[in-house]
Amino acid sequence: MMYAAIMGYGTIGSGVAEILEGSRERIAERAGQEIVLKYVLDLREFPDSPVADRIVHDVKVIEEDEQVGLVVETMGGLNPAYSFVKSCLSAGKHVITSNKALVEAYGTELLQIAREKGVNFFFEASVGGGIPIIRTLYRCLMGERILEITGILNGTTNFILTKMDRDGASFEAALKEAQDLGYAERNPEADVEGHDTCRKIAILTAMMTGKEVHYKDIYTEGITRITDRDFCYARKMGTSVKLFGTSRIVGDQVYARVAPVMIGREHPLYGVSGVFNGILVKSDMLGTSMYYGSGAGKLPTASAVVADMIEAVQNQDRNVALGWGNEQQQMADINTGECRYFVRIEGNLSEGKQKLASVFGQVETFVLDDTDEFAFLTEKISEKCFRELATVLDGEYQSKGSEGIRQIIRVELA
Ligand code: HSE
Repeated sequence: MMYAAIMGYGTIGSGVAEILEGSRERIAERAGQEIVLKYVLDLREFPDSPVADRIVHDVKVIEEDEQVGLVVETMGGLNPAYSFVKSCLSAGKHVITSNKALVEAYGTELLQIAREKGVNFFFEASVGGGIPIIRTLYRCLMGERILEITGILNGTTNFILTKMDRDGASFEAALKEAQDLGYAERNPEADVEGHDTCRKIAILTAMMTGKEVHYKDIYTEGITRITDRDFCYARKMGTSVKLFGTSRIVGDQVYARVAPVMIGREHPLYGVSGVFNGILVKSDMLGTSMYYGSGAGKLPTASAVVADMIEAVQNQDRNVALGWGNEQQQMADINTGECRYFVRIEGNLSEGKQKLASVFGQVETFVLDDTDEFAFLTEKISEKCFRELATVLDGEYQSKGSEGIRQIIRVELA
């Protein structure tokens, strides 16, 4: 019998308790022994809940109870999650977390403590909710060299962009709908500015490279500047716009970024819509593989936590190597990375064609009826080169009284 504790009885924590109770026999069979929930740590009381008799308010009760060998952290945030998790691992207990901020900020240190103590620190639910991507990377693809991970890792922004694409909604209207439906927070900044996606791609990059990666080293752009006009062009071009977290190995360099990307219908992630997440992995032997499902929500996320709990019990006497070591990964300068770019500029296309060609060469152009602008699609060039050329073109248009460049979106058609 393995005694467990849950720290944080919010949406995910209560989902974990629900699954442990509802699927008790199946979990026992798969874990090889029964997992018994002994404590639930929270600041609040839950008198009407099924765990009312197990609520505790002091983490020391859990830390000091030698019977408890397995601790789930579903509090979120860094404080006090970090110190609670660290002391539980140091006390020789397995820890499972759904907390991406914790894993991104302290994963390297917590994994090291787990190795030293011969216990496990698992975090499947921290990326992609219920989608099994972390275990896929360290177990199923363990014979592969991972070359790229690109994910739609945030359900809120994917819902907003899908609404803008399918219904022609403005960003503001789609955000409001996401908030009304409870997908987006009242303060949606972490989602719409790309910070949530950035933490998740930082964790996936650490799993890909085996080294520590920090979100501050990853270029991040959100979706707040994407407009319904952009989607009018996208529809005309047979494309859509998605928020991608991408990490790619090119030679001996690792490029990572979070940004909206215009993609074609042939792109494997094109069909990932609404609140769903999708993660594409390119590796040297398998080639492209895709993982799709619910990236958030009570039971999907709790399901990933419970799977980690079972894995910890199956390996209760040894540390399972996740391949994430102590070295720090240097990230490549995004300016040297190459991409295609979609650009919208105020002006008349027939008047501006020569000017455009003199700066960017022959490029595909697009015009929407009844607008005072046109758009074009560059060939693949480096970010640095693109920025220099765009500055020249923008300057020329602005010197003639035009607003100049209105929009720039990176493009990956296949
Ligand atoms: N706010 C996140 C999302 C929740 O919308 O995907 C899961 O991390």
